[in-house]
Amino acid sequence: MAWRKFPEGFLWGAATAAYQIEGAWNEDGKGESIWDRFTHRKYTILNGDTGDVACDHYHKMPEDVALMKELGLQSYRFSIAWTRIFPDGRGSVNQKGLDFYERLVDKLLAAGIIPNVTLNHWDLPQALQDEGGWVNRDCTAWFVDYARVMFDRLGDRVPLWSTHNEPWVIAFLGYAFGFFAPGIADYSRAYQASHHLLLSHGLAVQAFRAGGYQGKIGIVLSLSCYQPASEKESDRAACKRVYENNSALFLQPLFKGSYPEMLFNWIASHAPKIEEGDLKVISEPIDFLGVNYYFTEAIAFAQWGGFLKSSSTPVSAPGWGYTEMGWGINPPGFKSVLLDIKENYGNPKIYITENGCAFKDTPDDNEFVSDWERINFLRAHLLALHDALQSGVNLHGYYVWSLMDNFEWAHGFAPRFGLVRVNYQTLRRIPKQSALWYREVISRNGFEE
Ligand code: FCB
Repeated sequence: MAWRKFPEGFLWGAATAAYQIEGAWNEDGKGESIWDRFTHRKYTILNGDTGDVACDHYHKMPEDVALMKELGLQSYRFSIAWTRIFPDGRGSVNQKGLDFYERLVDKLLAAGIIPNVTLNHWDLPQALQDEGGWVNRDCTAWFVDYARVMFDRLGDRVPLWSTHNEPWVIAFLGYAFGFFAPGIADYSRAYQASHHLLLSHGLAVQAFRAGGYQGKIGIVLSLSCYQPASEKESDRAACKRVYENNSALFLQPLFKGSYPEMLFNWIASHAPKIEEGDLKVISEPIDFLGVNYYFTEAIAFAQWGGFLKSSSTPVSAPGWGYTEMGWGINPPGFKSVLLDIKENYGNPKIYITENGCAFKDTPDDNEFVSDWERINFLRAHLLALHDALQSGVNLHGYYVWSLMDNFEWAHGFAPRFGLVRVNYQTLRRIPKQSALWYREVISRNGFEE
């Protein structure tokens, strides 16, 4: 059996996001976010779930950091709720909100865990949405003001920063399909939101550089593997459209300072308003790219397949099935995504900021979950990563999604992604078998194949 060792200094962690775990949605001066507004509307979330309490991490934070230490995590990726810092999105700062994140960062550092902070994991202040949200160009300046406050307060202690998490999801699930907050269905607004998300990212990177902070800064993208459903020209073209819309729409401006041409011809009058110099700002060099990989899809041309005239079918590798989300399990797809970045976007430094799966967890009488399916999933994806490293991908760390079961957006609490089980009645945390396995992988910096 081969021993799969990862490079010296490879960073092992787990990730969460503020709205999905914190709860305390209106405590200590926190303002309303678009996710508070969205979940409080009837029929938007499965079973009427909300993040009002979620895992109650806001109150259980010290216990959670202790748990991370017990699991041997080297790094913890979390996001900041903008509405705890600026309840109205801008204007006056809420000291109690800042204090919470400062306590969290200090506790992590005391536990020897490296904080990896995401500034925007989707929970835009509702007050800013009332002024158009990401469609409004002014939102880019509001974001930078917020980012600067965080850099000033935590810049001396946080070595890893990301501006946005998955701008495609924000723009398309939020503004084109209406599945997620703010629940808008309008392609023009979605492309404008994408552009402003990217622009605000570039402006925040510039502010970070100008401030002389010590850490590194990047952005996190959701990158899936797309394969044409057949060799037919129409399927290949549809696949290219989907790739350009979901991946290249972000990768290309970030790394090449331009937008995908074929896509922009297709979207025609829906194309965003771009001002002179915007693409220069967007392509401001970053220190790393965060990659979230979950699944692979086969893309076919579909006459009635919506705006992109495409349909997608989950792809699973031989012998693998589908997760609880219906996502196709395809570890080789993970490697292809990374090779694409290496070959086409200049081989930037990469952290895998999310990878994981939801399965039907069945707890025993002690609430322990023997989640071998999750272990198999993680192990196979780590093998693909190891292969990618061998092929020269510039990879430096890996974060499991997620540290604990949490509020999975429109799916509510139904899917469980955690290494740690959360009992939503008692809020008790119980590490699953996968958490014990992962602790072992971290301590050996690899595993036996
Ligand atoms: C990603 C999100 C994350 C989580 C996982 C399952 O798209 O970034 O918050 O919901 O999916």
